[in-house]
Amino acid sequence: MGRRPPIKVPRLYHAVCVALLLGQPMLSVAQEEESSLAWGKDLFLRRCASCHGEDGKGNGPAAVALKNPPADLTQLSKKNDGKFSRASVMRFIDGERPVPAHGPRHMPVWGEVFREERTDSEARMRIFSLTSFIESIQEK
Ligand code: HEC
Repeated sequence: MGRRPPIKVPRLYHAVCVALLLGQPMLSVAQEEESSLAWGKDLFLRRCASCHGEDGKGNGPAAVALKNPPADLTQLSKKNDGKFSRASVMRFIDGERPVPAHGPRHMPVWGEVFREERTDSEARMRIFSLTSFIESIQEK
């Protein structure tokens, strides 16, 4: 009979599991909000800044090529009596709400784009986080 190598795998596996559990304390609500905001900002820079600009003011590099200027996203509250309407912004990004000026939509329907790339729930989370980011850049 040859020597069998000692089986180390289960113990290592166990250690990894414990490390993972210990390394992930429950996120507080504040932390969760912060990470959603950070995720939203990251998504915004990658998917939206080309038109809306990194600061959201509507002067991204692709804006010049558009017939309809991208909205200044820092003015949404101001234009809405100082209130930021999360629901309305989320519905616009998703594509459920038509263009404010009643014209054709010049912006991609992000709900569809995101749902093609990922699951429905991830699409919703992306739109939620993007909206948190947009809320954070509102000018008073
Ligand atoms: C191809 C350029 C382009 C990209 C990329 C783009 N937008 Fe837009 N966005 C527009 C234009 C143009 C408008 C003005 C409405 C229209 O013509 O469709 C607009 C309008 C909006 C509005 C509505 C503002 C209002 O007045 O209610 C929101 C919110 C918005 N965009 C968010 C986003 C988010 C979030 C992303 C990234 C996921 C994004 N946009 C990416 C071009 C773009």
